[in-house]
Amino acid sequence: MVIFPFPQYKYVVKSLKLLPEIKIGKFSVGRFPNQEIFIELQKDVKNKDCLIICSITPPDENLISFLLLSHTLKKEGASRTAALLPYLAYARQDKEKKGESLATASVGELLSAAHVSEVITVDTHSHKVEDLFPIPIYNLSPSKLFAQEIKKLNLKNPTIVAPDEGAMERVQKTVEEYGSGVEIAFMKKKRTPSGVSSVLYGHVSKNVVIIDDILDTGGTLLACCKILKSKGAQNIYVFVTHGLFTGSDWLYLFDVNVKKIYCTDSIPKVYTMKQKGLNILPIAPLIEEYSHHLRKIQQDLKRIYHEIEEVKIIEPEEPPLLEE
Ligand code: R5P
Repeated sequence: MVIFPFPQYKYVVKSLKLLPEIKIGKFSVGRFPNQEIFIELQKDVKNKDCLIICSITPPDENLISFLLLSHTLKKEGASRTAALLPYLAYARQDKEKKGESLATASVGELLSAAHVSEVITVDTHSHKVEDLFPIPIYNLSPSKLFAQEIKKLNLKNPTIVAPDEGAMERVQKTVEEYGSGVEIAFMKKKRTPSGVSSVLYGHVSKNVVIIDDILDTGGTLLACCKILKSKGAQNIYVFVTHGLFTGSDWLYLFDVNVKKIYCTDSIPKVYTMKQKGLNILPIAPLIEEYSHHLRKIQQDLKRIYHEIEEVKIIEPEEPPLLEE
């Protein structure tokens, strides 16, 4: 397999060490004087399986560069190209609304048209993406990672809170990994012209853990934490898979009893942030789990091909010619 990591994702490559015969594919992304993007491959990929590790988040040159690279690999004879996109951007635009773009479906079609065979990602926003994408998606869950970190916090009777209904499944999975001794509560969220308004269902203790997929502006979590604080939560720990950290409003979270924010490194930007209280959880163990899974598939396929080769094909005998 030849791996093509975009520079910002080099740290993910070593998590794929379980895969046999990995080679790193060299390529460059350039621009013509008029700013059109072009890709140059410095590796022969004929009949090779390829894996691109990239981000398709804005700036939109990321998406275009990715599409051009995938298309180039196909043009140069790659047998198959998968995409490891730790954060699957555009997955939140998955609701069918008259007169509005349905970006999740649109991006899925673009990937498919650029000959991407499958996408491996972490914690997709919802399962809708699986229906809207014309290619398979392998979704890695951070629940085990989160449960392990929550245990390390040693919280007395924690309540685990889903900040909206969409986060319920995530919370339940994490609680399954955590084991017994926790309460669950959830919020119903409504976006209003002036922001986000939420209603709490369930009781909360002094120690609260919130689990969500994305921290973007922080608006959802701020609305949630204000209510939790008013209901007696004194120590709030936020766990999010993808830290977009757009703008600076999310910093107010530390004013509403948030003690720590945990997020994975699915988005490389988190390594440039020097914010006290922000803790980064590498996605490396999840990628290793994926490469383990892929290795097993490869071994199974090898075994099946071997068994097929061993089956002796018995040609049917020619029927005797009938005499007239
Ligand atoms: C929404 O349904 C997501 O799960 C997140 O809660 C949301 O996208 C976070 O965005 P923000 O931080 O801007 O409220």
